[in-house]
Amino acid sequence: MAGQRSLALGLIGCGTMGGSHATQLVSLADAHLVVACDLDITKAEAVVAQAAAAGHVVRATSNLADVLADPEVGGVIVATPNFTHRDVVMQALEAGKDVFCEKPMALTLADCDAMIARAHELGRKLMVGQVLRLITVFATVRRLVAEGVIGKPFAVRIIRCARRSLDGPWAATWRSKRANTGGLLHEVNVHEFDFMRSIFGEVESVAAMSANFTRPEYDYEDHVIVTLSFRNGGLGVLESSVATAIGATDGLITGERGSISYDWARNSVRYRLLDGTEEDVPVERDLGRSVQGELSSFARWVLHNEAPVVTAEDGRRAVQLAEAAYQSIAERRTITLA
Ligand SMILES: NC(=O)c1ccc[n+]([C@@H]2O[C@H](COP(=O)([O-])OP(=O)(O)OC[C@H]3O[C@@H](n4cnc5c(N)ncnc54)[C@H](O)[C@@H]3O)[C@@H](O)[C@H]2O)c1
Repeated sequence: MAGQRSLALGLIGCGTMGGSHATQLVSLADAHLVVACDLDITKAEAVVAQAAAAGHVVRATSNLADVLADPEVGGVIVATPNFTHRDVVMQALEAGKDVFCEKPMALTLADCDAMIARAHELGRKLMVGQVLRLITVFATVRRLVAEGVIGKPFAVRIIRCARRSLDGPWAATWRSKRANTGGLLHEVNVHEFDFMRSIFGEVESVAAMSANFTRPEYDYEDHVIVTLSFRNGGLGVLESSVATAIGATDGLITGERGSISYDWARNSVRYRLLDGTEEDVPVERDLGRSVQGELSSFARWVLHNEAPVVTAEDGRRAVQLAEAAYQSIAERRTITLA
């Protein structure tokens, strides 16, 4: 596809996240949508109408095979529920499509391995939407750490707590079952696992505990705490919840020379060094930049072989950490990763 200017995409799954991808694709130069697919044709049609309003011609279908048989489609975005990722991605790879798959990559590490192996065998590209890497607050924190502002980081504490409402975008009924989501850690916190990994590197061991205090409609936890020990000696804590009245999506990264704190909801990043230096670091509002960035990276990988900003291996590692945490909960012990 070298020389091609814009990657023609098929969107599979036109719900909350698929809709976001469609919205951001309208203003991308590297990629454009040609077909929107959803089992619920009205959702695909809504994407088509939105694209038409921006002057783009997109067709709607409820048939995945129709997307995969379309020779114009160079790549697909998979934004279907978590439990479908493996099968939909495999079908797309078999059909010769390059694939951008939403997080979590799959429900199990074994499925991630199978997907990566098949993509490799077929010579296809597979990327996973670990979008926190690109969200401006998190990208700013990563940049400060990489620039050495706080010296070598040795601890991270992340809180991702909210009260998930019973209506609105997170109410899709598939979300209430572990068999569909993987659990809260797959559904939400593969993001935080990936962010922590992107700063501290690989994890050596994981210990976790969880419970369901307030959400009888879920067959999995509504509150979970995970501790991580990184191979570089660093320590991490994640607290995640869909049961807290006061939401908090903040974090603290501590290094040998100082600390960085961020507050995602307030779009703020600041650091204080041991020598007393302090700074509130300006952060651009994300406003869809992160989704544009990941899709643009996928398109440039497919079209020009530019290295992607996140890889399938990153998606796989995040699932591995979720799986290890659930194993820790089930077996009431610390899990050492292979
Ligand atoms: N990156 C992020 O921050 C982020 C945010 C939200 C959701 N997600 C991920 O995106 C995925 C979708 O989540 P959502 O919130 O959009 O869910 P959703 O329920 O709003 O939308 C999913 C859509 O997929 C359709 N669908 C299901 N199976 C299908 C199939 N086989 N073929 C075609 N369409 C099918 C459904 O009809 C539905 O419209 C999930 O994996 C979720 O974890 C990622």
